Amino acid sequence: MLRNLRLLALLIVSACVSTSFSQAQTRTLDSEGHQWWQNAVFYEIYPRSFADSNNDGIGDLKGIDSKLDYLKDLGVDALWISPCYPSPQVDFGYDVSDYENIDPMYGTLKDFEHLARDAKKHDIRIIMDFVLNHTSPQHKWFLDSASSRTSAHRDWYIWRDSKAPGVPPNNWLSGFGGSAWQFDPKTGQYYYHFFAIGQPDLNWRNPAVEKAMFDVTRFWYKHGVSGFRLDAVDLLFEDPDLHDNPLLEGKNEFGDANMQNKYNDKLPEVHTELKKLRKVADENNAVLIGETYTSNRDELKEYYGDHNDEVQMPMDFMFCTVDKLSPAEFRTQIANAESTGGWPVYVIGNHDMPRSYERYGDGKHNDQIAKLMAGMYLTLRGTPIMYYGEELGMENNDPTRKEDVKDPIGIAGWPKEKGRDGERTPMQWNDSPNAGFSQTTPWLPVPASYKTHNVSGELADPASVLQFYRHLLALRHQDHALLYGDYVALNQDNPNVLSYLRRYKDEAVIVVLNMSATAQQVSFDLSGEGFPSAKATTLLTTSTGAPGGQLNQVALDPFAVYIGKVSR
Ligand code: NOJ
Repeated sequence: MLRNLRLLALLIVSACVSTSFSQAQTRTLDSEGHQWWQNAVFYEIYPRSFADSNNDGIGDLKGIDSKLDYLKDLGVDALWISPCYPSPQVDFGYDVSDYENIDPMYGTLKDFEHLARDAKKHDIRIIMDFVLNHTSPQHKWFLDSASSRTSAHRDWYIWRDSKAPGVPPNNWLSGFGGSAWQFDPKTGQYYYHFFAIGQPDLNWRNPAVEKAMFDVTRFWYKHGVSGFRLDAVDLLFEDPDLHDNPLLEGKNEFGDANMQNKYNDKLPEVHTELKKLRKVADENNAVLIGETYTSNRDELKEYYGDHNDEVQMPMDFMFCTVDKLSPAEFRTQIANAESTGGWPVYVIGNHDMPRSYERYGDGKHNDQIAKLMAGMYLTLRGTPIMYYGEELGMENNDPTRKEDVKDPIGIAGWPKEKGRDGERTPMQWNDSPNAGFSQTTPWLPVPASYKTHNVSGELADPASVLQFYRHLLALRHQDHALLYGDYVALNQDNPNVLSYLRRYKDEAVIVVLNMSATAQQVSFDLSGEGFPSAKATTLLTTSTGAPGGQLNQVALDPFAVYIGKVSR
């Protein structure tokens, strides 16, 4: 009877879902009504820095291919590969000169196909980074666009006359410093670039641009990719009348006035476009991940679409704006994500922000804190996106001299803004020179800590950060409460310990995270949640004090994690 009811419930869920998802998508629901990406662990690879197969100091696709066993073993289900298309590398691949090929420094399209096939054998999906807001000026579309005011591609980019001689069309500023307008003497107009001068913005109001870009996604779907991470989606549209943006108090790290990007960020048209992109994705059973920098819950909610018809996985960056171990603030952010009605997507690090090991670490207990953070974002309801090396406790290695900086932001903003090189250093495979990444000097130097924090050393150490990740990911994949359970905040007034239940049918897992530097003792009464026994079986813990499974007295070392299966 119960079985039949469950089946009926599933059929109803599937029927509802199929009104907003395509046929292809409904076919992929698991027995609990989840799509593959809801159960998956994603892992971001910055291809320059992951594994260098040809020893030129820069990572490549064959390098990634050679590490699939490692990734599978770790518990990764999908790789988001940061851009590896042909590019002048002004912004290390986020300036694409050909969307339908691979940059020779990373290999060939054949290498990609090989990687896709091997990944499939490992049951690992590939997600490409879709840089859709802008191209490189070396892209053939821009070359033609810039060739004359009447060229076929002129309107593929945003060209405008100067306001007055030598004065850009309006006051908009580039996120990489200075005006967002670049004068082109050949045709006597300015082009708009939100990012570097080498990243002219596409004109998404032009249907030809839209069609060409949708075709790019189709090209990669045909090559076996399972979806895209949508770069800088907030910025796809600009006010056609080019109103000046309001100025705010003070100056930014580039010395420019602070500005509210009212007329060139998060315009409503973004959502119309995402719906269209989603249609193409649905036709290909694909997932869209949004680089969605939202500042409140309502903005985040919008990215899912009113009918779950925009981005399935908008990244919740508000979660990692909590830059300290604050249970209260994490509680608030988790509650925000939970309340959108969409499936939460948690990240604690990526190639644009200092590594989580640094941001949360106190300098003394960084390994414990790295495990604590993993214990949180890998046990919440939602999909986590890991950043390569996070599982090792890799730390930032920021440049100390301007002449060493590679990142355009660091070059423009030095010394206030040191850029993002520090979080993009080579993956630490072992303790041999260059951390086993390459036999030649890598494009960025590895931090000294590679001697202690590297894959081979940590695999041999049962207490390492890597081993903790491996255990946790294995648990996450097999435990129904962690995969499917709802999130129930516990002991919400505790200022030091963040605790919650993941409750699924008659099962529950309790997660208890001591975010303080002092030992803590906590007590739970779960009778109201349907679990009166006050007992749990320890699944994973970093507490040495043997917490024992008595939920009325859970003892936690400083920064310890306790994860237990609650008995009924
Ligand atoms: C966001 C990417 O994550 C970042 O690395 C890049 O610089 C900008 N978009 C521009 O593409």
